[in-house]
Amino acid sequence: MKTTILSAACLVPFSAATDVLLPLYVYPLSGAWDAVYNAASAYPDVTFNVIVNPDSGPGAGQYPDSTTIPAINKLNSYPNVQTLGYVHTSYASQSVSKVESNVSVYAGWASYSESNIAVKGIFFDEAPNNDDPTSTDYMSNAASYARGLGLDCIIFNPGALTTATAYYDAADLIVNEEIAYSSYSKSSTVDVIPSQYRNQSAIILHDTPSGADISSLVSTIVGAGIAAFYATEDCCYNSITTSLLDSISSSLENA
Ligand SMILES: *[C@@H]1O[C@H](CO)[C@@H](O)[C@H](O)[C@H]1NC(C)=O
Ligand SMILES: *[C@@H]1O[C@H](CO)[C@@H](O)[C@H](O)[C@H]1NC(C)=O
Repeated sequence: MKTTILSAACLVPFSAATDVLLPLYVYPLSGAWDAVYNAASAYPDVTFNVIVNPDSGPGAGQYPDSTTIPAINKLNSYPNVQTLGYVHTSYASQSVSKVESNVSVYAGWASYSESNIAVKGIFFDEAPNNDDPTSTDYMSNAASYARGLGLDCIIFNPGALTTATAYYDAADLIVNEEIAYSSYSKSSTVDVIPSQYRNQSAIILHDTPSGADISSLVSTIVGAGIAAFYATEDCCYNSITTSLLDSISSSLENA
C-alpha cells in the first residue's frame, strides 16, 4: 500500500522498483504477443509498462481493429501490466493539434464498452531534450493535455541524456538512453544520469546479442536506481525474443 499518491501522476509510480518498459510495436497476429502475456503471468512482481502502437499513433479509427482489441484487452487483464499509447512528437515539430488528437483518440479507448482497452498513459516518442523553452513548453503542454484526459502515466523518449528539470516536472519517466547493446556502458549511460533523476529514468537497448549477460546488466541498472529497462535483439521493436524477455523479467523479479 502506497502512503502517498502524488496528484496527476502515475498510480503505480515508475520509481517504486525497476520496471520493464516494452515498446510492443508488433501486430498481434497469431500469438505475436504471447511472450508478453507469459512474462506478465510468470513474473507478477514485475510491472510491465507496455507501449501499444497501432499505426505510429492510435490509427485512423476511433478504436483499434478487431485483432488488436482482444490483444489489448488481454494485456489489461494482468494486474502488473500498464498499457501506454504511442504518440510521436518529431522533436517538438509535430503540429500540436495532431499530437492532441492522437492523445484524445487513446483517451477515448476507455469508453469502448465491450472490452477493456483503456490505456493508462502516453509514450511520447521523438521527444526533444534541449532546454529551449519552446521545446520544454511543447512537452509540458502535451503532458498536461494527456493528464487532463485522465492519462496519468507520461513518458518522454528523447533516447538521449536529458538534464533539463522541466521535462522531469512534466513526465513521470524519461528514456535517457536508447542505444545499441554494443555501445552501452555503465560509465557512459547510467553514471552520467544525475542521481536525482534516476528514479525517473529508463534505458532501452536494441541489437542485443543472444549471449548477452542480462542478469549482470540488470543488476547494475537496478543497483543504480533506474526506474525502467528493456532490451531487444531486434533493431526496431518489431519482434520479441521470448528467452530475452524471460531473462530480463526474471532478473528484475529477483533483483
Ligand atoms: C496522429 O499523428 C500522426 C502524426 O504523428 C498523424 O499522421 C495522424 O493523423 C494523427 N492521428 C490522429 C487521429 O489525429
Ligand atoms: C526520486 O528521488 C529523489 C531523490 O534523489 C526524490 O527527491 C524524489 O522524490 C524521487 N522521486 C520519485 C518520483 O520517487
